[in-house]
This record gives sequence, C-alpha cells and structure tokens, in this order.
Amino acid sequence: MDLAHVHLLLNHFPAIGGLIAFGLLLLGTVGNSDDLKRASLAVWLGISLLTIATYVSGNGAEEAVCKAAAAEDPCPERDVSKALIQEHESAALVAFAFMEITGALAWLGLWQLRRVRRIPGWNLTAVVLLSVTTLVLMAKASGAGGDIRHPEIRSASEKAAASPAAASEVPFARGVGSFVMRHTWIWPTCETLHFIGLCLLFGIAAVVDFRVLGMMKGAPFAALHRLLPWGVLGFGVNLVTGMLFFVADPGQYTHNVPFQWKIVLVLLAALNLLYFTIFDTPWLLESGDDAPVTAKLVAASALFLVVGVMFCGRMLPFLGDSF
Ligand code: HEM
Repeated sequence: MDLAHVHLLLNHFPAIGGLIAFGLLLLGTVGNSDDLKRASLAVWLGISLLTIATYVSGNGAEEAVCKAAAAEDPCPERDVSKALIQEHESAALVAFAFMEITGALAWLGLWQLRRVRRIPGWNLTAVVLLSVTTLVLMAKASGAGGDIRHPEIRSASEKAAASPAAASEVPFARGVGSFVMRHTWIWPTCETLHFIGLCLLFGIAAVVDFRVLGMMKGAPFAALHRLLPWGVLGFGVNLVTGMLFFVADPGQYTHNVPFQWKIVLVLLAALNLLYFTIFDTPWLLESGDDAPVTAKLVAASALFLVVGVMFCGRMLPFLGDSF
C-alpha cells in the first residue's frame, strides 16, 4: 500500500465527516441538546485531525499519479494533468486551513463545556459559521480531486485548465510554497516558533500527565485543566509552522518514514488530549487523590506519544532523508 492508497482511503472523510458533524450541530441547536452539540464538536475535532493525514498523503498520491516535474509538462498517464492536481492541492490547502480553525474552536467549546458546563453563544455561532464555510470549501476541494481521474465530470473551464498550455498561472499552494522558499528568513523563523510551540505543548502535557501519574498530588485536576488551552496553542503554532515547511517542500517529507510516523503519533497524542478535555475520570481528581489506572495509562501513553513526536521530528534527516 503506497501513499496514493492512503489518500484514497482518507479523502472522503473530511467532507462526509464534516456533513455528519454539521447535522449533529443543527439537531443539537434546534433540540437544545448539549449531548448532541458535544458529539458534533467531538466529530469536528476528530475530522480536523484526520484532515491533516488526508492533506499530507495527497502529495504522495500526486507523485504516484503524475511524474511530471512542472505544471506545463504533460503527465505520462493519459487524461491526467499536473495543472488539475495543483488546482486540487490549492483548493485543499484553503479547505484544510478552515477545517483546522473549526477543529480548534470545536475543542475550545468542549473545554468550556467541561469547565463551565455550557458552550458560550459566541463559540457555538463561530463553529456554525465556520462549519458552513468549511463544508463548502471541502466540497470544492473534493470535487477538484475527483476531476483528476475523471475527465467525464470536468466542466468546460476545468477541461481548459487541464491543458498543459493553459498552466501559466502559479496555483495558490505552489505560490505559498515558493514564497516560503524565496524569503530566507521564513524558514528559521518557523523553526524557532516550532520549538516554542513544542516547549509549550510538552510543558503542559508533562504537568498534566505527571499529576495524573501521582506527582504533585496537592494539585486538583480542575486547576490543571485551565492550562490545556496553552498546550493546544502550542499544538496550533506547530501545525501552522509545520504545514508551511511541508507546503514549501512536500517532496522531502512525503516518503520520509519518521515523518509518516510523526503524523500517526501526532494524531494519537491529540486523541489523548480529548480524554483530558472531556472525560469525567481525570476531572474528579481532587487535591491528594490518586488517579484510577485507566487515567494513569492514558497519561503514560500521552507522554510516550509526545516524546515520540519530538523524536521522529528530530530524526527526519537521520533516519529519513530530509534536508
Ligand atoms: C484537505 C485535504 C484533501 C482532501 C479532502 C482531498 C480529497 C480528494 C478527493 C475526494 C479525491 C478524489 C478521489 C476519487 O477520485 O475518488 C482526491 C484525489 C486526489 N488528490 Fe486529494 N485531497 C486533499 C489533499 C490533497 C493534496 C494536498 C494533494 C497534493 C497535490 C492531493 C492530491 C490528489 C491526487 C493526486 C488525487 C488523485 C488520486 C488518484 O486518483 O489516484 N490531494 N483527493
């Protein structure tokens, strides 16, 4: 199984999962059900995480589907066009950005629901508005993905865009990539921010997980729960800077095995965070309490996963062949 298979396996989840999440949100709002709203926010969060893997597997699919180096070159395979693939990549990048913002606000809603027992109106309104925008953009990106292999569903303008001669404009994603590459200050700035984000994420994960494992027993979990948004901010900074690296030079990451492991571990670590955000078990820990075994297992695995993410990131040039 190569990355094209992975991409084909994942690529309908963002649009379909988004529709399900949106439906749950509508039902929850109309029926005034906190459970349905919570389910919707959890689905948005899960889908936004899965979209990271969907996006980064896309460039691997591109290499498998078309070996041409530039948009003007014809793909060796009949009816496939590099220009259409890059149009799809650009639509996917915009949809991806909106999906991640929706996921972040969904997480904030879940955090507030746990903390103050209700989702503030502004948060719900923002998630509804972003959901609609994300769904429209995702449908557009998915449609452009379908066009790549299906000439029979291409519109007249897409047929024109598919001709190599028409590919004179730089598509958005490639424009972002070359902007990062052309300005030499962007890469080191992103590296610095990536390390700051990592420190924030690891620092918060360490405090929360070590408390659950039995250290600093004087601190009640509710006090530590307040810190979680800082950890999520660290994750957000790393996602933005990491995606800038990836979009600038996808070729050096897609086939890099530590990078692939890094993405898997990031997704698992983020799911772990969901446990500490919404589940009752850790929340019930008062000052002096010992956590149940399940919570300790989750805390230990969270530490292992975060260290694994850092290890794979550091090993990109050593166990893999980046840089
Ligand atoms: C938000 C992220 C993305 C989504 C939701 C998405 C969605 C899709 C969909 C729905 C298809 C059509 C599958 C079919 O024909 O049944 C597709 C195909 C494809 N996508 Fe993406 N995509 C994403 C990101 C990317 C990126 C970043 C690239 C890189 C250029 C890419 C490259 C491709 C390629 C080459 C195909 C054709 C695969 C084949 O038919 O073998 N995708 N994508």
